[in-house]
Amino acid sequence: MNKVILYCRPGFEKECAAEITEKATAHEVFGFARVKENCGYVMYECYQHEDADRLIKTLPFDTLVFARQWFVCGELLRDLPPEDRITPIVGMLTGAIERAGELRVEVPDTNESKELLKFCRKFTVPLRAALKENGILLPYEKASRPVVHVLFIAPGHCYVGYSYSNNHSPFYMGIPRLKFPSDAPSRSTLKLEEAFHVFIPADEWDERLASGMYAVDLGACPGGWTYQLVKRSMMVHAVDNGTMAQSLMDTGQVTHHAVDGFRFEPPRNNITWLVCDMVEKPARVANLMADWLVKGWCREVIFNLKLPMKKRYEEVTQNLALLSERLSENGINFEIRARQLYHDREEVTVHARRIWGAVPGRRDER
Ligand SMILES: C[S@@+](CC[C@H](N)C(=O)[O-])C[C@H]1O[C@@H](n2cnc3c(N)ncnc32)[C@H](O)[C@@H]1O
Repeated sequence: MNKVILYCRPGFEKECAAEITEKATAHEVFGFARVKENCGYVMYECYQHEDADRLIKTLPFDTLVFARQWFVCGELLRDLPPEDRITPIVGMLTGAIERAGELRVEVPDTNESKELLKFCRKFTVPLRAALKENGILLPYEKASRPVVHVLFIAPGHCYVGYSYSNNHSPFYMGIPRLKFPSDAPSRSTLKLEEAFHVFIPADEWDERLASGMYAVDLGACPGGWTYQLVKRSMMVHAVDNGTMAQSLMDTGQVTHHAVDGFRFEPPRNNITWLVCDMVEKPARVANLMADWLVKGWCREVIFNLKLPMKKRYEEVTQNLALLSERLSENGINFEIRARQLYHDREEVTVHARRIWGAVPGRRDER
């Protein structure tokens, strides 16, 4: 198995390919990416056989922006016989992986694949039984073991392989399933909720998204992101010239500031979270986020970078580099991650946090 499949948002295959090529090469895994526009995945073919496994084991999945999921696989299985699709799949996995902890039968995230998804659900049951019988899957689900992936790209045609559970997306098809809360004022509430799921480990939510924390939401109206913060019992300064949903104002947890988000200064020094969904030039937003972190006005930020029509990968890398440089030159120890979330369209979401104290230039460990 010398290939790595990466799932992405349809339309962003070129960005996903540019990213994996650059990062795999920097990791000394040489190969080339195959791109078919709007198909929802990219194939990175390694020149050395064992390199595909090494890549998904050692390149941190969290560092990828445009990939939702990845797995190692071999050649496409074509024209599986309808009377026995299982034997070729078992054959492909035999010797490649054993005692895996889970099976995911998936499709690319395209409209054409929706029909196939129904088949995948049904097919999972007999395939799972066969994989267990052959020792490829453990008799019970185990989260710490590798995951077997079967990706159907058309009826009877699939890629088969595996990913490592400590270096992949924990979600089926790389997409957290979230339900739109009927009382939220806008659908973009799901963007911030997804960002929490992707960037904050579940066992750290109680500490890092704790009730009673103070947050600032720049470009807040009508309040989808503020809703998420309020739901976690935070106190929110919502900054926007627009109108906030009355239901949020009625909670007593929200203070609305009808001012420019680029000029707003926090009224208190105990802000934990800054979130920002202002539609603005990416570099302007990245600089603003750097200002807040450098001045110690907040501890963690989540913000969107709206992407241009062209050179989208370059735009993302430049802005992440700009943020890193600003924090580094101010002696701040930090962590930055970015991901094009399922609920993002022409944008990516970035999370950054200070790991050290709030005084610029001083490394006071917390
Ligand atoms: C995409 S909407 C935000 C949606 C919001 N996150 C939600 O979930 O409901 C962008 C908002 O940014 C606001 N905005 C744009 N530029 C701004 C600025 N300079 N200062 C404050 N708000 C700004 C707009 O008024 C608009 O309401």
